[in-house]
Amino acid sequence: MPTSTKDIIQELKRVKLEAQKDLSRAEDQASLQRLKGKYLGRQGILTELLRAMGTFPPSERPIIGRTINLLKEEITQEINTRWETLKRRRHEKELYAEKLDLTLPGRRPLLGHTHPLTQVLEEIVDIFTGLGFQIADGPEVELDYYNFEALNIPKDHPARDMQDTFYISDDMVLRTHTSPVQIRTMEKQRPPLRIIAPGKAYRCDADINHSPMFHQVEGLMVDRDVTFADLKGTIAIFIQQMFSKDTRLRFRPSFFPFTEPSAEVDIQCVICKGIGCRVCSQTGWLEILGSGMVDPAVYSFVNYDPEEFTGFAFGLGIERIAMLKYGIDDIRLFFENDLRFLSQF
Ligand code: PHE
Repeated sequence: MPTSTKDIIQELKRVKLEAQKDLSRAEDQASLQRLKGKYLGRQGILTELLRAMGTFPPSERPIIGRTINLLKEEITQEINTRWETLKRRRHEKELYAEKLDLTLPGRRPLLGHTHPLTQVLEEIVDIFTGLGFQIADGPEVELDYYNFEALNIPKDHPARDMQDTFYISDDMVLRTHTSPVQIRTMEKQRPPLRIIAPGKAYRCDADINHSPMFHQVEGLMVDRDVTFADLKGTIAIFIQQMFSKDTRLRFRPSFFPFTEPSAEVDIQCVICKGIGCRVCSQTGWLEILGSGMVDPAVYSFVNYDPEEFTGFAFGLGIERIAMLKYGIDDIRLFFENDLRFLSQF
């Protein structure tokens, strides 16, 4: 430790030079931090000198104190400047390292669109709302009563077979068709009514033509004097708008417990135009929907007077329509979410 005032002033000059040299060599923030400790810290050189000042005569302490504090300020200042310099250098280095080619074309974000089934559904909805039908809705987990009983499907009917129906409990199922919405709607409204009910249906069945979950659109019109001719006209307009004006169709007698008479509607095969091919099993025709006049037995469940009102109903599969419209030969393609398939629509 210096013992005279002259010595201490000399020592401070030396410290100043040393600090300048040290600082100019500091290449990163960590070494700067270390130097800060070396000169200004609790055990730092300047702090020690300040402490030693106590051993000097009081008359000399002010001048020594001022000199030390001045140097302290200078060193602090230089550390800060060095800090800024290092920061700027690092930033410049980063900027140089990073190459940006502003002339490159931008990257186009992948755009999604509605699912082909949604597109077909929207087309179907457009056609029927254009004919004055309103949208109705019902639950997918359905009471046995609405799915079967009130549709005139008695307890022993084969449609209730465990193989086809997903049972939730004894009296609850995953609806096997959208027809229960007919009953729910008629329970709430009096004729005249004209509704379609799009939605999901479930059957324990899976192959290239069947999916355990699929989509249907139910149709129902009840009023005074509704006849089979109204059903035929409505279906014909729908098919011609959905496919093409010259699409031929035929009504083939069939059976459903909730319609009488019942008919299945076929359209001329869209692939071979009626000549006969693999898709239509050489018949020239493709089945497209089930339909019929509402069975009077159904009216008794909803308290409609069958003498006063008549109506027609139909049910079509959205997947089936989409497959025929686009020539798709495997229903599973709709649900695999393979973009190579989906992006074609
Ligand atoms: N619900 C019938 C089915 O899923 C279709 C249908 C609806 C038939 C309405 C006639 C009337 O097969």
